[in-house]
Amino acid sequence: MINGKTKIIGIFGDPIEHTLSPLMHNAAFKHLKLNYCYVPFNVKREQLKEAVQAIKALNLIGVNITVPHKEAVIEYLDQLSEEAKHIGAVNTILNENGKLKGFNTDSMGFIISLQKEKVSVKDKNILILGAGGAAKAIAYGILKEGGNLYIFNRTLSKAYKIKASFSGIGKIEVIEELNNEVMEKIQIIINATSLGLKEKDPMPLNPSLIKKEHVFYDIVYPETSIMREAKKIGCKTIGGLGMLLWQAALAFEIWTSKPAPVKVMKKFLKNF
Ligand SMILES: NC(=O)c1ccc[n+]([C@@H]2O[C@H](COP(=O)([O-])OP(=O)(O)OC[C@H]3O[C@@H](n4cnc5c(N)ncnc54)[C@H](OP(=O)(O)O)[C@@H]3O)[C@@H](O)[C@H]2O)c1
Repeated sequence: MINGKTKIIGIFGDPIEHTLSPLMHNAAFKHLKLNYCYVPFNVKREQLKEAVQAIKALNLIGVNITVPHKEAVIEYLDQLSEEAKHIGAVNTILNENGKLKGFNTDSMGFIISLQKEKVSVKDKNILILGAGGAAKAIAYGILKEGGNLYIFNRTLSKAYKIKASFSGIGKIEVIEELNNEVMEKIQIIINATSLGLKEKDPMPLNPSLIKKEHVFYDIVYPETSIMREAKKIGCKTIGGLGMLLWQAALAFEIWTSKPAPVKVMKKFLKNF
C-alpha cells in the first residue's frame, strides 16, 4: 500500500504506454514486501532536462530511461558508470544523496540472458544488425566478453562510429554488404534494429542468408517476422524478453541493494 514512506522509482520515455517495466518491478517490490512504487512518466525531449532535475527535487530513488532519451540524458547527470561512459547511453539512474549517477544495464542484461541460454560469446563470430543505442550496449558487452564483432547497419557511418569508439576493447569490423561469404563465418546473429514491430516493416536481413547452424537472437519483442523465419530454418532462437528481464534485475539491485526476485519478475513477463 502506498503511504508517506513509499519510495518512488520511475521510467522516462516517449512513448511509454507499452512499457512492461512497471509490471516487473512492482511485482518484485510486492514479493519482497519493499515499500517502493515504480511509475511510468511520458517525458518529451524538450522537457527531459526538467524531468531529470525533478528526480532530485522530488527525491526519487532513481529512474529507468528508455527510447528516445538514453543518449540525450547523459548531459544532465553528475556521474557515469564505466559502461555508461563507454557506451554513451544510460538506461538506469540512481539518486545518491542528490547526485545522479547513470548506468547501462542493457549491456550486462544482454550477456546474462545469453548465458542463461547456455550461449557463450567468447571467440565466436557475432553479427549485429543495427547501430543504435541497443546495438552499442550489446556490442560493448560482447567485446568485453571476448567475442569477435561484425556490425551491419543501414547507415554505415553509425557502424563505423561504433568501430572507432570500441576498437580498443576488442575485434570489431563493419560489414558493408551481407552475403553468403560473410554469413559462413558467423555463429550468432543479433537483430538490434527496431525493425519487426510493425507488420509492414522490411526484414533486417534476407532470410535466405540465415543457416540452421546460426544462433538467432532478436532483441525486439513480441516475435518478429525475421524471428519466425529463423525458427522455420531450424536455428536456436532467443527472444528479447530475457534481455528485458536481466537489465531490469540489475537496475533493481542498483536501486535497492537487494538481489532481484528474478523468478517473480519473469513470471510477470511470461504472462505478457
Ligand atoms: N529486449 C530488450 O531488453 C531491449 C532493450 C533495448 C532496446 N530494445 C529494442 O531494440 C530496438 C532498437 O532499439 P534502439 O534503442 O537501439 O533504437 P535506435 O537507437 O532508434 O536504433 C534503431 C536501429 O534500427 C535501424 N533501423 C530503423 N529503421 C530501419 C529500416 N527501415 N531499415 C534498416 N534499419 C533500420 C536503425 O538504422 P539507422 O542507423 O540506419 O537509422 C538503427 O540501427 C527497439 O525495437 C527496442 O524496443 C530491446
